[in-house]
Amino acid sequence: MAFDGKVVLVTGGGAGLGEAAAVLLARRGARVVLADANPDGAARVAAAILADGGQAVAIGCDISQPQQVARLVPFALASYGRLDLAFNNAGVTPLPRDTDQIDPADWRRVIDVNLNGTFYCMQAEIAHFLTHGGGAIVNMASTAGLQAHATRAAYAASKHGIVGLTRSAAVEYATRGIRINAVAPGPILTDKAAGLPAAVRARIAAKTAMGRTGTPQEVAAIVALLLSDDSSFVTGAVYEINGGQIQQERTVME
Ligand SMILES: NC(=O)c1ccc[n+]([C@@H]2O[C@H](COP(=O)([O-])OP(=O)(O)OC[C@H]3O[C@@H](n4cnc5c(N)ncnc54)[C@H](O)[C@@H]3O)[C@@H](O)[C@H]2O)c1
Repeated sequence: MAFDGKVVLVTGGGAGLGEAAAVLLARRGARVVLADANPDGAARVAAAILADGGQAVAIGCDISQPQQVARLVPFALASYGRLDLAFNNAGVTPLPRDTDQIDPADWRRVIDVNLNGTFYCMQAEIAHFLTHGGGAIVNMASTAGLQAHATRAAYAASKHGIVGLTRSAAVEYATRGIRINAVAPGPILTDKAAGLPAAVRARIAAKTAMGRTGTPQEVAAIVALLLSDDSSFVTGAVYEINGGQIQQERTVME
């Protein structure tokens, strides 16, 4: 299997897209280190992977806290003796607000978790990969990292930041055995999103050309591709997974 012998760190692995990626990577042979600010969520996913015949361990970690992030690589090494791959997925989404209405504390929290947290994780992972034979990283961006996202400026700023961080670091380490890419999903129907009213879900689905939301498994498949050797010539890429939710020009017909 593609990930036999590999150890992968998944942040935000206790729910949603991180959970789906962790489950898929484990099914393809990876040993998974689940890090999540909600330790119960991470422990639940680890137990599910074990029950599925895979290997996983869980650790509580708020990625916005550098001292907590510093424990991740040592935990992976203590658990499995190595770390080869990382999916920096953990993130938060703020309530919708016009920019002038954003509470600065909410702004700081979104930037702290999504952007600073991803940066702290990358620093730890890269430092390890540089001295242990290289590795591959996938960061979680979003359509909001590539396009405007009205009423979610902090979220869009954090995800645009992740895109810039991904591309810049990809160039820095391209000749040193480390590939760094990002995924940019559009609307994905996680368990949390499934709880939204049907009318809201329909409006969200209508934003894509396919007229539907994606599944966590459809994101996980691309994350696995970018972490695998099948994408050995891919670095600095931002892979859109959005059913055709692209900016478009339309001819105005009379
Ligand atoms: N669901 C979507 O439609 C969608 C689309 C594009 C991008 N994303 C991004 O995907 C990622 C995961 O989203 P999701 O929909 O699965 O969300 P989710 O809320 O279902 O899961 C997020 C997980 O991250 C954890 N987490 C939150 N803050 C954390 C922190 N500070 N440190 C460590 N763990 C933390 C949560 O406890 C949770 O387990 C986020 O970065 C999000 O911005 C989601």
